[in-house]
Amino acid sequence: MDGCVTLTVVLLVAAVLSPANCGLFRLKRVNKAQILGFDWKNCGQPDAPAVLKSLNVSPDPITIPGDLTASASGSTSVELAAPLAVNVTLEKEVAGFWVKIPCVEELGSCHYQDGCDILNQLIPPGQDCPEPLHTYGLPCHCPFKAGSYSLPQSDFYLPYVDLPYWLTNGNYRVQGVLGSGGKELGCLKVALSIHSD
Ligand SMILES: *[C@@H]1O[C@H](CO)[C@@H](O)[C@H](O)[C@H]1NC(C)=O
Repeated sequence: MDGCVTLTVVLLVAAVLSPANCGLFRLKRVNKAQILGFDWKNCGQPDAPAVLKSLNVSPDPITIPGDLTASASGSTSVELAAPLAVNVTLEKEVAGFWVKIPCVEELGSCHYQDGCDILNQLIPPGQDCPEPLHTYGLPCHCPFKAGSYSLPQSDFYLPYVDLPYWLTNGNYRVQGVLGSGGKELGCLKVALSIHSD
């Protein structure tokens, strides 16, 4: 995985699952959630330095809590180093229209000054990267050297989570734009539907 992939995945997970350390958020308890119709595409310029080349996620639907299998590959032609701006736009389909969800408590459509710093908060530097990154020698901190990264098919367990109160059933799309020094480095769009009891 390249930096764009790692960051986007981390932010997506943060946006969708809401990390356990966000005690200030209003959360709702769900017994079981399903993610359906996961889809993605690059949305940067054709010559964007950071691109995702493949991302396969199964099963469909993904059940939370439950097992997820994923593989990914990507590349970056430039080193991804701090500060790495990340602009996330989260939209929800409401009555046939895509409505932008504002940034609430650092989740939603937020501008993050430095994705590297967020990674450092989620995964303290100095410790091993979480599996399966560690097994495959994939980095989880900036700087991400220029090159190709690939994560072979791996199994993940998605634990029971509390969702932010505003993250209700429906169709969502998320765009993440990665930039540095005012230059766009990469862009990824993800679409998915959430269904919970
Ligand atoms: C993020 O959005 C801000 C405000 O619109 C803009 O100044 C900045 O260039 C954007 N950064 C990226 C990486 O798109």
